[in-house]
Amino acid sequence: MKFCILSGSPRKNGNTAQLIRPFLEELDRHKVQHDQIWLHDKHIEPCVACRSCQKDWTIFGCRFQDDAQEIFDKVYGCDVMILATPIYCWYCTPPMKAILDRLMYGMNKYYGDEKGPSLWKGKKAAIITTCGYRPEKGADLFEEGIRRYCRHSQLDYIGMLAERDFGYKAEFITEEKKKHAGEFARRLIGTLSEA
Ligand SMILES: Cc1cc2nc3c(=O)[nH]c(=O)nc-3n(C[C@H](O)[C@H](O)[C@H](O)COP(=O)(O)O)c2cc1C
Repeated sequence: MKFCILSGSPRKNGNTAQLIRPFLEELDRHKVQHDQIWLHDKHIEPCVACRSCQKDWTIFGCRFQDDAQEIFDKVYGCDVMILATPIYCWYCTPPMKAILDRLMYGMNKYYGDEKGPSLWKGKKAAIITTCGYRPEKGADLFEEGIRRYCRHSQLDYIGMLAERDFGYKAEFITEEKKKHAGEFARRLIGTLSEA
């Protein structure tokens, strides 16, 4: 059982990072392996829709020589992909949007002369996010976008943990939020054990 956490915040000690920490601690307690990738540290070009990736249905196949291949490999090799991002303008941050686009084409061989397979069919995906608005108004559009992304890609969307940031003067992390993160980790591990 392996989780791959794609971290989209520019702040390594920011709110989303503080929420991920107890989540990872719970994975450790259950001896679940995990990789965390800080997307802001990576070079990720935006997709240019050249469709080079559609020629060979067995590989990522992108023509850009950047860090997306390494991220593709990590996601391809995991059981659960976690999209961990603060909400920026009702969606994820730019490097996460860039890798979502690159994976959408590189993983889904739907866009060539004939429709091919989804290379990540059946993989599980979940969201961990923080936002300034109440999650129902801050994270709802991102969650709906990811639900559709998963349906389109034949991924299994298994849920979201969303916590509110009450502003720069307030302490973000609380015992209650830590508890939610631990519960969320246990719930996701449970969905894997059922499969
Ligand atoms: C550029 C920018 C855009 C933001 N846009 C939104 C938004 O659309 N909706 C929202 O609820 N919060 C928004 N926020 C607030 C952040 O989502 C929130 O502060 C988050 O907890 C920051 O997480 P971090 O510390 O991990 O970066 C925005 C913050 C920034 C800096």
